[in-house]
Amino acid sequence: VDVMLVRRVLNNLVDNAIKFAPDGTRVRLWARKGSEPECKRDYLLVGVSDEGPGISEEERKRLFDKFYRVSSVAGRRSGSGLGLPFCKLAVEAHGGRIWVESPTSEFGFPGIGTTFVITLPTSAEEGD
Ligand SMILES: Nc1ncnc2c1ncn2[C@@H]1O[C@H](COP(=O)(O)OP(=O)(O)OP(=O)(O)O)[C@@H](O)[C@H]1O
Ligand SMILES: [Mg+2]
Repeated sequence: VDVMLVRRVLNNLVDNAIKFAPDGTRVRLWARKGSEPECKRDYLLVGVSDEGPGISEEERKRLFDKFYRVSSVAGRRSGSGLGLPFCKLAVEAHGGRIWVESPTSEFGFPGIGTTFVITLPTSAEEGD
């Protein structure tokens, strides 16, 4: 990988978790191996999980848009809304994917906590 780019991706995700989750809660940075049998491709899954306010389904759809910030939480924290669009560009340039998981309760309110996951292929795609 391009170490500088991937470091910036992880920095952004950890920075967000620390910024948007309440003091005293845990932020987990984790990694594990995965594989896609259909295309015989191996990859690394890296995730950042927090115990913050979570992100609603509506907001999750727009998170990777430039300058987008969730009004309810972002207003109190500094930032330009470019962190996640950058993460998406950098991860996709490596042939990987990025997505967010944040449970929504049956009443439609966001659940507790957010996890951002990225994949980084560790082997070439068939035919590469
Ligand atoms: N872990 C998280 N928990 C809750 N909301 C989050 C989390 N990560 C991102 N968000 C929401 O998504 C918005 C976009 O995140 P992004 O990293 O792109 O921008 P930013 O952190 O506001 O600014 P920048 O990264 O440019 O300093 C944030 O403003 C915030 O509303
Ligand atoms: Mg950010």
